[in-house]
Amino acid sequence: MNALGPVFPVARPRRLRRSEALRSMLRETVLSPRDFVSPVFVTDGGAVEQPIASMPGVSRIPVDHAVAEGESLLELGIAAILMFGVPSKEKKDPGGRESYADGGAVQRAVRALKAALPELVVITDVCLCEYTSHGHCGLVEEGSGRILNDPTLDILRRVAVSHAEAGADVVAPSGMMDGAVGAIRAALDEVGAEETAILSYAVKYASAFYGPFREAAGGAPAFGDRRTHQIDPGNARVAIRETALDLAEGADMLMVKPALAYLDVVSAVRRAHPEVPLFAYNVSGEYAMVKAAAAAGWLDERAVANEVLMSMKRAGADSIISYHAKDVARWLSR
Ligand code: PBG
Repeated sequence: MNALGPVFPVARPRRLRRSEALRSMLRETVLSPRDFVSPVFVTDGGAVEQPIASMPGVSRIPVDHAVAEGESLLELGIAAILMFGVPSKEKKDPGGRESYADGGAVQRAVRALKAALPELVVITDVCLCEYTSHGHCGLVEEGSGRILNDPTLDILRRVAVSHAEAGADVVAPSGMMDGAVGAIRAALDEVGAEETAILSYAVKYASAFYGPFREAAGGAPAFGDRRTHQIDPGNARVAIRETALDLAEGADMLMVKPALAYLDVVSAVRRAHPEVPLFAYNVSGEYAMVKAAAAAGWLDERAVANEVLMSMKRAGADSIISYHAKDVARWLSR
């Protein structure tokens, strides 16, 4: 005997692994299309889809393809879409003003989606990096290059309100500015959008795994990096502080990003806030690694993607944002 009961030869864990029937009956974690959010890049630059080289299978789509994209997600059983805007270059400026333009790509796509497919959950990314000429997530102080926190909040308020007014169900601030959730909550409530939810990218690391996304969204910083606002990859405890602060400011849901290299953090946040919906973002670099290895014939894409995504759910995520969402839904339906 030991603390858990009898030991070998009475105990034989292999008894429960003998057949697929037993294994599937006893499996604690299974994926379903409902576990996923599918990201999409909508652009106002041109009428054709533009494939993203470092993310095979993903394209920037013109605004008027958004409804067809939403339809294909619903057909596959995926309930939610996460929208990123990719404005054409001439619309970028140091203040990122296109981010809250009424006629912006995201605002137009959201309006079209909510009109055609009201049952699709529309989540919008609220950040400035795709809209600023310098590629930073906030306003930049001239001379010093410092990213200014509080002046940026005024812009994020406008962005969130413009998304909510277009019909977004959920806005997701991703810029790691202190106080963003509280500022956005107050701004939404002021315009009567108190039912628009906030999914906070509360725990976002200064990660090298965002490389392909920056190609896709054209939001790479022109100078410097994001280490003065995104979390240092060596730190886990601060994730609990960030999530507690965002909940106090009014976040409805939380996110950890990236997911794969930070499963310990997903698990810690899950334990710290068992009552709150938790998202994990399977980011562009994680997707690109699997796609590249599969294309070289070194890994079985389907098996590896399934295992990687399942690990995120097993670690405690309720929902996974993934570029693999549509592939997984197709595999599950076969
Ligand atoms: C910022 C943002 C980024 C991602 C989502 N929102 C990039 C960054 O912080 O540089 C990355 C997502 C991915 O890599 O898939 N608006």
